[in-house]
Amino acid sequence: MHAIHDKLDSWYSHLCHWADNGEYEIQRDLDRIGKWAETWATRAAVKKNGAQEFIYDSRLPDFLPELLPFQNHPDFINAPEPFRAAALSCAWLAYNEKTVAIESKIVGPACVHLIDGNVDLDAQNVREPVAQALVDESYHILMVVKASELTRKLRGLTQLRLPQFQIVTSLLHARAAHSEQWKKTLVQLATAVVAEILVSDYLSLISRAMAIQPLNRITTEMHRRDEATHNGLFKCLGSMIYHSLRPHEREFFVRALAEPSGWFADPELDVWQSVLSQIEFPNAERIIRDCRVNHKDREVHLDLSTLEVLFADFGVDEKIREQVVAR
Ligand SMILES: [Fe+2]
Ligand SMILES: [Fe+2]
Repeated sequence: MHAIHDKLDSWYSHLCHWADNGEYEIQRDLDRIGKWAETWATRAAVKKNGAQEFIYDSRLPDFLPELLPFQNHPDFINAPEPFRAAALSCAWLAYNEKTVAIESKIVGPACVHLIDGNVDLDAQNVREPVAQALVDESYHILMVVKASELTRKLRGLTQLRLPQFQIVTSLLHARAAHSEQWKKTLVQLATAVVAEILVSDYLSLISRAMAIQPLNRITTEMHRRDEATHNGLFKCLGSMIYHSLRPHEREFFVRALAEPSGWFADPELDVWQSVLSQIEFPNAERIIRDCRVNHKDREVHLDLSTLEVLFADFGVDEKIREQVVAR
């Protein structure tokens, strides 16, 4: 059943919003959004029985080592097994807390802007599906909070504290850089659109990882299924927002869309520095110091092709597209 929904979602997300004469047609996006809204009650994770009663197998790792920013560092590879296992449990907790931050500080507030009609969309038609997405995101927070509590209890990590993620700091700085409210709103909306497009990839590696804790994999897979729909929904919303704006606002929105993909690629080394020192991981300082040097050397490139596809899909004016992509 889920596979069918996923296929439908991906099919709808590739339908274009253009009429035969090449004009943007809002009704096409509204029809697609309406279809997702109709199926929400049979599709959403919040409407299903929880999958959180799975037996926890403490012999299995909590996370994939290949997703750690220091996976190839000799001090990590050669560390005693209990420290490696603890680092993987911390990685799962950090992954979950980053999910909570994305839902509560990036996507949730953007949904509230849309529900409040802070951009000039056809509010009556988008309020229900956006409110459904907000419920989904709240449920995702509950799912990962429950999963994290269990991991903390079973792995002896109840005292672990996670500092603020760079992705949230970057959003706060980007919003604070502007005094006009409309710019702050568009930064929030653009970040949410990018987050909702990238979050499925972020979840899919863990959701398919058969070697890790089943509870962690299944929790992530339940989340990923909802996000497969959000991906298409936020592409439609992004396109509707773009076409509702005046020319100078459009240009600002497109620039704001280009920023956050770099934030998502951040390895969150401040979080890791704090975490590794809290669990007294051997040579933690050297591991993080080397990661910082490597990260600085390796310029973070925006995935320009993904961005170009998104801009083309939104029907972004060629001149704006060239300016932003060439920057
Ligand atoms: Fe979510
Ligand atoms: Fe989402």
